[in-house]
Amino acid sequence: MSILIEGGRIVTAGDDYVADVYIEDETITMIGESLDVEADRVIDATGKYVLPGCIDPHTHLDMPFGGTVTIDDFLSGQVSAAFGGTTCHIDFAIQPKGQSFTAGLEEWHGKANGKAVIDYGFHIIVTDLKEGGTLEELATLPDQGVTSYKLLLAYKDVFMIDDETLFDVMELATKTGALVMIHGENGSAIDVLVRKAIADGNLEPRWHARTRPPELEGEATNRAIQLAHVAGCPLYVVHVTCKESVEPIKAARDKGWPVWGETCTQYLFVDETDLDRPDFEGSKYVFSPPVRDASNHDVLWNAVQTDTLSAISTDHCAFLFDGQKTLGRDDFSKIPNGAPGLEDRLLMIHHFGVNEGRISLSRMVELLATNPAKLFGLYPRKGTIAAGADADVVVFDPEREHTISAAGHHSKADYNLYEGTTVVGAPELVLVRGHVVVENGELVAEPGSGRFVQRARFGEELAPTRNRS
Ligand code: URP
Ligand code: ZN
Repeated sequence: MSILIEGGRIVTAGDDYVADVYIEDETITMIGESLDVEADRVIDATGKYVLPGCIDPHTHLDMPFGGTVTIDDFLSGQVSAAFGGTTCHIDFAIQPKGQSFTAGLEEWHGKANGKAVIDYGFHIIVTDLKEGGTLEELATLPDQGVTSYKLLLAYKDVFMIDDETLFDVMELATKTGALVMIHGENGSAIDVLVRKAIADGNLEPRWHARTRPPELEGEATNRAIQLAHVAGCPLYVVHVTCKESVEPIKAARDKGWPVWGETCTQYLFVDETDLDRPDFEGSKYVFSPPVRDASNHDVLWNAVQTDTLSAISTDHCAFLFDGQKTLGRDDFSKIPNGAPGLEDRLLMIHHFGVNEGRISLSRMVELLATNPAKLFGLYPRKGTIAAGADADVVVFDPEREHTISAAGHHSKADYNLYEGTTVVGAPELVLVRGHVVVENGELVAEPGSGRFVQRARFGEELAPTRNRS
């Protein structure tokens, strides 16, 4: 099967030009002006952008958490992603407490099997090195294409690890070529503040943010940065929300330390006042780290403009309002932490980032596709439009108006953080490895067509599919 995408404006992290893209089977094989080739299908992209498929390095599909399970599985979550122009994501497989990492990975492979409509990889969440998982076993994961170890400094008695475990894993990562990822919040201090709030009868959603102040994000982020420096490993800080953690990341990067950070779409748009929404609707905005004072929006935009932060993910962790968020109606600490957003990232960042002049189109591509691909061992197979790359392509109509709503999105979530927001610019056609997945508002892909991608080690390139051994 061959496809010719004619006359679109090709935007990559480094280039912006009008040309044709020729796809043979799963791969982009030629790019040029007025290509003289026969194709099984010709797509007229005049006036449209031709973007690399977006990559979301931070999602939680079908994940048990907060006394329930996230509502999007690998089918609904990935369909939602595809409609939003995301063609590959990296989900978090969790080491079950007291069990091996392999047990966690097998469980997550099982969750995705037969459901995937886009490509995907896994990070491993390390919960325990004392029983079940060992450093020896963790060292073998990069051979299976799982080349990032995530550790959470938050969620005491659930995911939180101690500094010894963190440092052990960091030292291991220097030998195995894995990227260490951290959730930077001080879980022990948060636990004290939560207990105190509950004892004082402070039970409303706003107390979620008040018991997780930005200083505790800054402290944990800085601690991880210093430990990573001593260990000598590369570090990626997930979901950065505030000045207190942007500053240590900037200081480390200014010194040339191998530290990167991401923020998530929601932290650029919602703020702590959303937690006060009436009728318990504030619970829809309960996720961790929490929504912050609105002054942080400018801090975060500045950080993504100046490459202090190098990626924007979604941290898609969707729960129903009705029946899941409401588990915490009488106590904010029982509200499952997380929110939907997989489908909205490109729409929101294009409209408020590019249309409103905060970032260029190329920088948007870099933040949503190229940098995630480079940092997580998917580049140059994914994250760009180039000969030899997988044909993961979004034909994007910069003039199409779209109003974001729970009624129209494809996540199973019964609410949307950006409900009623009208954006200009939306995906029109989405290809994953040369297969049309979404076209004219319809899902075309069959469940099971998405593939697990074995990622390269940190700093290494992922060979194009055609050259795969
Ligand atoms: O509230 C959130 N973000 N839930 C998902 C788990 C995490 O902390 O990333
Ligand atoms: Zn997360």
